[in-house]
Amino acid sequence: MDLSLDNVKTEIARLREEIERHNYAYHVLASPTISDKDYDELFRRLLALERQYPQYDDPNSPTRKVGAPVLEGFRTVPHSTPMLSLDNTYNETDIREFHGRVVRLLGQSAFTYLCELKIDGVSFAARFEDGLFVLGITRGNGVEGEDITEHIRRIPSFPIRLRHPETLEVRGEIFMPKSAFAQINAQREEEGLALFANPRNAAGGTVRQLDTAVVAKRRLDAFIYHLLDPERYGLKTQAQALDYFRELGFKTEPHRALCASVEDVIAYWRRWTAQRHSLPFDIDGAVIKVNEFGLRDTLGTTTHSPRWSIAFKFPAEQKEARVLSVEYSVGRTGVITPVANLSPVALAGTTVRRASLHNFEYVREKDIRLGDIVVVEKAGDIIPQIVRSVAEKRVGDETTLKPPERCPVCQGPVGKEREEDVAIRCLNPYCSAKLKRSIEIFTSRAGMDIEGLGERWIHELVENGLLKALPDIYRLDRERLIALPRMGEKSVRRLLDEIERSKGNPLHRLLTGLGIPSVGVKTAKELAASFKDLGRLRAATAEELCRLEGIGEEMAGAIRGYFQNPAVQRILDELAEVGVNTKEPIEQASDRFKGLTFVITGTFENYTRDELRNLIEKNGGTVSESVSKKTSYLLMGENPGSKAQKAALLNTPIMSEAQWQEWFKRT
Ligand code: IVH
Repeated sequence: MDLSLDNVKTEIARLREEIERHNYAYHVLASPTISDKDYDELFRRLLALERQYPQYDDPNSPTRKVGAPVLEGFRTVPHSTPMLSLDNTYNETDIREFHGRVVRLLGQSAFTYLCELKIDGVSFAARFEDGLFVLGITRGNGVEGEDITEHIRRIPSFPIRLRHPETLEVRGEIFMPKSAFAQINAQREEEGLALFANPRNAAGGTVRQLDTAVVAKRRLDAFIYHLLDPERYGLKTQAQALDYFRELGFKTEPHRALCASVEDVIAYWRRWTAQRHSLPFDIDGAVIKVNEFGLRDTLGTTTHSPRWSIAFKFPAEQKEARVLSVEYSVGRTGVITPVANLSPVALAGTTVRRASLHNFEYVREKDIRLGDIVVVEKAGDIIPQIVRSVAEKRVGDETTLKPPERCPVCQGPVGKEREEDVAIRCLNPYCSAKLKRSIEIFTSRAGMDIEGLGERWIHELVENGLLKALPDIYRLDRERLIALPRMGEKSVRRLLDEIERSKGNPLHRLLTGLGIPSVGVKTAKELAASFKDLGRLRAATAEELCRLEGIGEEMAGAIRGYFQNPAVQRILDELAEVGVNTKEPIEQASDRFKGLTFVITGTFENYTRDELRNLIEKNGGTVSESVSKKTSYLLMGENPGSKAQKAALLNTPIMSEAQWQEWFKRT
């Protein structure tokens, strides 16, 4: 690096400021000012500098939204003023009554209401000092809550540095968008884990995680709607406060309305009762607030809620349907999911015909029978759920649902993998349903991206015995393919070319395509970037995996478990044998270490061993595992092993971490 330390400091500050500006434009204003690619580039540059110069570490750096510590437990913190809840109502009469009370207490009707949507999430308080985010607390019992500062830092839209250096406390709602909820539950279903009932539970479950890497992965979001001591900032109304939030960099829910009469309030609620499903997140009502802060003070609060506000909730939309039949689907890991075919009903904007029954414990708990009338609702307003069965409407010919005794696809044995699992799986490792799903994931766009090998052809090739395991993709025979119906000479050539081309994919594509439990595209890229080589990743310890950003203990365990599975090991060996690339290309930064061979031993304060290896390789050097006459330097950290003795024997130059840093800076 040819940067002086002063320049480094300025560059880091500049990058942080620029990234924060783009974050604000993207998350708060919803109008991006940079392409994803350029943003990633800025982010990577900052991350690299911060890693290399840990002396400029700052808990408020935008990169902290990605890195994630595992907490030991939750600290309880008192609220500065109690976090009250609101009175609830579901009908228009109560709203008119509320309005009558407010008018009576104020002795006038010259005021306005600000109506907001009631976000269905978990509420929290956040404190800022001189513009920096210092503390986040859950509502808890209203008087004290739990410290979730590290969780909140990882919500992409949440500003950890305000645009003005204010000291203040705001309150708002953490929520999970419906799309994120759907994605997480689909993944959990595939992995045989218990599902979240709705986005609110998913958001609540996420902020209760000690492993904050989970938060970073789960796409939480937050709206701010309340400011403590607003008059201190010269604000007179809730409408002004909401504008001020935006100006400071907070995200606010945009569909608010200023209402001059109770009729307008009711119209707002009616409109959103009908339109609620069009939003990308769940709302469960409207919140009506007296807009003028001066009048709020006159109204005051009771012990549990303010007199100037009320929650006007929506009735939940539910419909009845009949369970016509039940099918089973078999996923990549063999999880067998019962799915109910229902008599069609219109619900929350679409026609519902099917609902997942998730697993057989769920079926038993809810006592759902074939032929039952059931109450259907949409979780997160998108995924149809059966709420309960209506036992009163049974006529006597309903039948209980039993778990299948054999796999519905391959007729193989079924059972639970672990005692504590709720999921029943097909235990046949050669089950064609499992195989088809895993090949689909392998050839998918994010995986090995083999165009032309989609669901239909995979089905055909598996059924005809041409694909019995993943590596068979690379052993497909031209003649046998041409012999298949509807397979022309030209399409066979194209397909085989595509397959051949895929052999050269970088490691992260292979990792994504393997469908390693809990490893998505992002983690696959992290793993590939850090380990560079499949062999090294296969040998990685849980501790080494945990050092990576975004990987917690649970995930490290899952990854280790995957690579230790003998069936997986065989597949990986075979893929390498047929010529699939197992390395991540190294982006060349310079060739200053060209011709030099390093051996690394011991532990380092500012680098993991993999980071050192990457730095050396990126700059043209070679890293070898053992000391020999060819070794140029032994890079030695704390607690070195036998390599240090060997180096002493061979008179190999030894370099300490401090010497390395000095040298790396200069060369
Ligand atoms: S105002 C004293 N505004 O609903 C101020 N609350 O049932 C109280 N909520 O605990 C909160 N959206 O968790 C307010 N726009 C909104 C809201 C909102 C959701 C939640 C919040 C509160 C609960 C009250």
